[in-house]
Amino acid sequence: MKDGTIGLFIPCHFYQTGGLLTSLAPFVPTPIEIVKKMLEIASVRQEDTVFDIGCGDGRILIIAIKDFNAKKAVGFEIREDLYNRAMQEVKKQGLEDRISIVNGNALDGDISEATVITLYLTTFGNEKLKPKLGNEACMGTRIISHSFVFSDWHLSKSEVYFEHKLYLYTIPEALLIQDTKPSLLKRLNPF
Ligand SMILES: C[S@@+](CC[C@H](N)C(=O)[O-])C[C@H]1O[C@@H](n2cnc3c(N)ncnc32)[C@H](O)[C@@H]1O
Repeated sequence: MKDGTIGLFIPCHFYQTGGLLTSLAPFVPTPIEIVKKMLEIASVRQEDTVFDIGCGDGRILIIAIKDFNAKKAVGFEIREDLYNRAMQEVKKQGLEDRISIVNGNALDGDISEATVITLYLTTFGNEKLKPKLGNEACMGTRIISHSFVFSDWHLSKSEVYFEHKLYLYTIPEALLIQDTKPSLLKRLNPF
């Protein structure tokens, strides 16, 4: 730098995923067979509302409805191009009444309606999301994460399927080991 300013290298995927401060992960779609395995491990069924945090092209939402007959599916997607692509597919398949997608930052979204949450983010993304999931996900919510664990959280189950690592957590058991602080105790016994 000729003028003495310090250069900052920012990988291009941060821009592609919606900005340095809000990006939890680049877009890498989960293969269809792995999506099905994730939903199977999370025991998705008719009464479930499935949330995909960073839903990309919407494949997890669509499969949750079409193959697992989930009641409803909700996605958050920060990238407008991917949001448009996902919505186009949802409309093409006539699923607008059961799938909704928010074009925005999942960290600002309301996840309280979820009974199942699917994730394919990064180690960093999971860590950023962890307090929100711990505080806002409802009791009994199953969280299935492709490839990335939550440090210090208690696993309900893990499985390797065609070399893809899948991790299942359940709220509130996931928090029991690490979080013995008042926040958890208050959730377990609000009175
Ligand atoms: C690895 S991809 C996974 C896509 C999809 N869930 C799947 O498994 O096929 C991660 C997605 O998260 C999106 N994303 C990253 N940060 C986000 C944020 N803060 N809010 C919402 N979406 C985000 C990215 O744009 C990308 O589409």
